[in-house]
Amino acid sequence: MLLLNTFLTSLMSQENIDVYLVLIILFCFGLMETLSGFLSHSNRSAGDWTQEIVSFLILSTGIKPAIVAAVYFLGNVLFPNGELFLSEISFLPLFFGYILVDDFLQYWYHRTAHTHPFLWKLHRSHHQAEEMGYFVAYRNAMLYYVMMPNIWWVGMVVFAGGAKAVALGLVIKQLIIISSHSRLQWDRPFYRYALLRPVIALLERIIITPAFHHAHHGTSVVDAAANPNKNFGNMFSLWDQLFGTATFVKGYPLTYGLPTKTNDHWTAAYFYPFVTSKDENSVWHKDHQFVETATNTPLTVALTKGETYLWCACGKSQNQPFCDGSHQGTHQTPLKFTAKRTGTVRLCNCKLTQKAPFCDDTHLNQ
Ligand code: FES
Repeated sequence: MLLLNTFLTSLMSQENIDVYLVLIILFCFGLMETLSGFLSHSNRSAGDWTQEIVSFLILSTGIKPAIVAAVYFLGNVLFPNGELFLSEISFLPLFFGYILVDDFLQYWYHRTAHTHPFLWKLHRSHHQAEEMGYFVAYRNAMLYYVMMPNIWWVGMVVFAGGAKAVALGLVIKQLIIISSHSRLQWDRPFYRYALLRPVIALLERIIITPAFHHAHHGTSVVDAAANPNKNFGNMFSLWDQLFGTATFVKGYPLTYGLPTKTNDHWTAAYFYPFVTSKDENSVWHKDHQFVETATNTPLTVALTKGETYLWCACGKSQNQPFCDGSHQGTHQTPLKFTAKRTGTVRLCNCKLTQKAPFCDDTHLNQ
């Protein structure tokens, strides 16, 4: 352990080593994605690429350095003797302390972004991507990054003397998040061969693997390999397991992205709320409000035996009584059910039934 501590301390003392390592990771994944046919077999628009590249550049050369500078300024004003006060602590404890707090903060920030209406608008474009690829990792609104607590945490640890620990943490973090967003899906063979399954079962209980994170980007929970309301972790699956949001799907979603499409320019997705969408149906439109679509009468629909459906529980879907993803940014989630027979049924649309998704006539008492 002492040897490892010494090795890592001297490695991370090399000037700009973290920048070189991150660039190598980006280059290698970029090359592998390109060779796997990503560029030639992609339906991504110019707007997708522009938003992701602009976001990456502004994040790494503007937002992160500005936040670290702001923390230095505030630190020197509020704690004049606080600078470098952790510098006597040896490398490994500092590194593990930094990285665990960082990951904990990001888990909760990300999870909150799925249930808080304004934060969801800042995070939504991350989930609009209909194809995975490592640049999707950088696809969020600019303000989402400015408010991200773990970037401020980076500034605090650097101010307190943990710059080397942060540098190694950032390299490991980039490696894991690029791998988990990438379309390379290196873990596929582990699910295919019985001999390898225990290995991936162990690995995905430690780090975020591609299948674990792709499930979070899947379009709908109707797909057994997708669940957008689970798997919020960034580097380690520990927090998802601890707080009950982990799902181990053992495969890949059939489709990615959001159930409803809107017609937005990338600037609205990235600069919201400073730039807004011209599309009146978009959540990034300046006057956008979710309209209640629940009504006081049940809806009669035809179901097919064995088919799986998502019943809207939030009352905001534009496709009642089924979910269209409008619950994102709230604490509500749809109810997944499989039809037991083919025929018509009355599904609840007042959302007050005790026998969801079926109508139990509660609406008659309203
Ligand atoms: S739109 Fe999904 S639960 Fe209402």
